[in-house]
Amino acid sequence: MAGTVKTQVCIVGSGPSGLLLSQMLANAGIDSVLLDRQDRSYIEGRIRAGVLEQGTVAALEEAGAADRLHREGLPHDGFELAFDGDRHRIDIKALTGKSVMVYGQTEVTKDLFNKREAAGQVFYFNVDNVKPTDLKSSTPSVHFTHEGEQQVIECDYIAGCDGFHGASRQAIPKDVLQTFERVYPFGWLGIMVDKPPVSHELIYANHERGFALASMRSETRSRYYVQCDVNDDLASWSDDRFWEELAIRLGPDAAANLETGASFEKSIAPLRSFVAEPMRYGNMFLAGDAAHIVPPTGAKGLNLAVADVRLLSRALIAHYRNANDHYIDTYSETVLKRVWKVERFSWQLSTMMHQFPENTGFEKRMQRASFDDIQSSETASRAIAENYVGLPLE
Ligand code: APR
Ligand code: PHB
Repeated sequence: MAGTVKTQVCIVGSGPSGLLLSQMLANAGIDSVLLDRQDRSYIEGRIRAGVLEQGTVAALEEAGAADRLHREGLPHDGFELAFDGDRHRIDIKALTGKSVMVYGQTEVTKDLFNKREAAGQVFYFNVDNVKPTDLKSSTPSVHFTHEGEQQVIECDYIAGCDGFHGASRQAIPKDVLQTFERVYPFGWLGIMVDKPPVSHELIYANHERGFALASMRSETRSRYYVQCDVNDDLASWSDDRFWEELAIRLGPDAAANLETGASFEKSIAPLRSFVAEPMRYGNMFLAGDAAHIVPPTGAKGLNLAVADVRLLSRALIAHYRNANDHYIDTYSETVLKRVWKVERFSWQLSTMMHQFPENTGFEKRMQRASFDDIQSSETASRAIAENYVGLPLE
């Protein structure tokens, strides 16, 4: 039935950003309502990357959603960069004292959903025509349709956690919103296969035929990617063609350990760098993919979203608990400083590790020189490692 619901924070989007924010607010006694245009099974069905920074693990621990992560996740102390068959291990543990955790983001989403449902969280799934309204007033609201009825959520604050294609960013006036974008001239073809990973750590490879990545979900399930034309027909990528291409690009040593098999997930994703400024407008805040997108090369999508949510939940909790609006007033400036650093790292690694159609011999030599510099300089390796394990929150 049509109606109006009141809450403290209305969260648009029930992906990792929205779910984690709801959990962190609930732990501080702050009420929220979650809206999503999909339902839980659709949201949990999205295949995403699988490397968690230590800060992300800490946030999930703080949210009480890290038990299965610690049971099933794989701690990694390093990863490899490969260039035309030459391989160099970045020892992130030795260089930074930190590790990363390999654990599917799909699993993070499932764990957060379980926490929120167990707590009786109010969700509205399969919503439509979402319109954040009266953002500059002290009583903003979100209008939407749900089960054919017009609904209104009246709230103190709106959190736009509705991803790149969401409605929240669109609610910021065009003369206020600034966007910055780089679309990469290629895509990633990813597969999942129930075979042991080719190596116990991730391998990012640049080969003259294109980029490749060897990752995993467990010791018996592997996740692989090869650079492809973003307009490729998936039907033109048989498993045999994929395995042949992956083996060439990873190089002979890795290929010798490659266990191939029938893929059970195969998809092509575009790559882009994107940032929207500001990440606050009136009493609406943006977090996660609603405000920024990174190419998956640095595995930063979820980790950047979690960092946004940690800063946003700090701001909202300070408001409700201490009537302190300092972190609310500085949220956009603080979070964007870190967003741009992570965008730079993801862009730099993508630029170094892929074959660009427009690249001349000069750019290809620059890519190889970057690899050689990292291989020979502990300082250069440490710079990569510090970004990979996750920059400080501020
Ligand atoms: N109204 C309501 N919900 C919407 C709307 C809308 N207009 N548009 C999108 N959504 C929902 C989507 O259905 C999705 O469930 O918002 C959610 C956004 O979730 P994500 O796209 O996963 O974005 P985010 O939660 O910020 O996650 C950030 O985590 O999933 C990984 O790597 C992925 O970069 C991503 C990161
Ligand atoms: C993945 O495991 O899906 C993955 C890992 C690292 C990346 C991107 C994707 O940089």
